[in-house]
Amino acid sequence: MQKINGDQILCFSIEEGLDAIFKIFSSGICGKPSLVEIAGPSCSGKTYLANRVVEKFLGEMGIVTSQLKMDSYFKDIDDSTVCDAFGRINFDWPGAYHISEFQNNVRLLIKGKDIMEPDYDIQRNRRRLNSGKLVKASWRIIAERLYAIDVLQGIHTGPIKVFIDVDKEIQLQRMKQRNIKYGISELAIETTFHKRIYPCQEKFVEPQKKMADMVIVNNFEKRRGD
Ligand SMILES: Nc1ncnc2c1ncn2[C@@H]1O[C@H](COP(=O)(O)OP(=O)(O)OP(=O)(O)O)[C@@H](O)[C@H]1O
Ligand SMILES: [Mg+2]
Repeated sequence: MQKINGDQILCFSIEEGLDAIFKIFSSGICGKPSLVEIAGPSCSGKTYLANRVVEKFLGEMGIVTSQLKMDSYFKDIDDSTVCDAFGRINFDWPGAYHISEFQNNVRLLIKGKDIMEPDYDIQRNRRRLNSGKLVKASWRIIAERLYAIDVLQGIHTGPIKVFIDVDKEIQLQRMKQRNIKYGISELAIETTFHKRIYPCQEKFVEPQKKMADMVIVNNFEKRRGD
């Protein structure tokens, strides 16, 4: 772990980042809720890290964390605001989310109120009606998605802002692996990545790196037990 750009912490693996978050998250912040925001490109490992933080707190300290996933807040596919500047349906576009609903739910958790997280059907690109997941309020809140740092600005007085960075080739490789099970060809993934995902990433996701307290470079995958 190193410090760069003044106070920004730089970690070279998820394991290092996990330890750093755990130290900050479990120290000092008594008497008020603490919020960890995890942003970064698709397949950088945001959900992986968030799950690891939640497991570590529960496993080592018996502490429950309130976990929010911004991808539960996607709009339905027929909502015209899901379209990007070129009029194409693009779920990597910031307009593809119900942002105020996400922000309100984070605010409620900070106030100690339980929330219902929407249930989004990623296959049909629609929210399941009359369905949702109860997220119980706790003093440790973790919120993650491409734009988590950006959209949660001003919501909490002292969030821990984490940006996960990843090499472009490794990102694309993970994307291909993840989509194989849906029968999507490697060529189709590459085309979508270069035409839709990467331009949004460069323009809207990467700038959050400068705003982060901690940057984790997640190019090295250390499996548990390695
Ligand atoms: N350090 C790591 N060790 C092992 N597996 C990893 C690691 N980082 C990421 N992965 C794996 O890579 C894949 C992509 O990671 P993940 O789903 O966490 O990305 P993400 O940033 O949440 O992407 P998205 O924005 O598309 O939701 C997953 O299968 C995850 O388990
Ligand atoms: Mg994810």
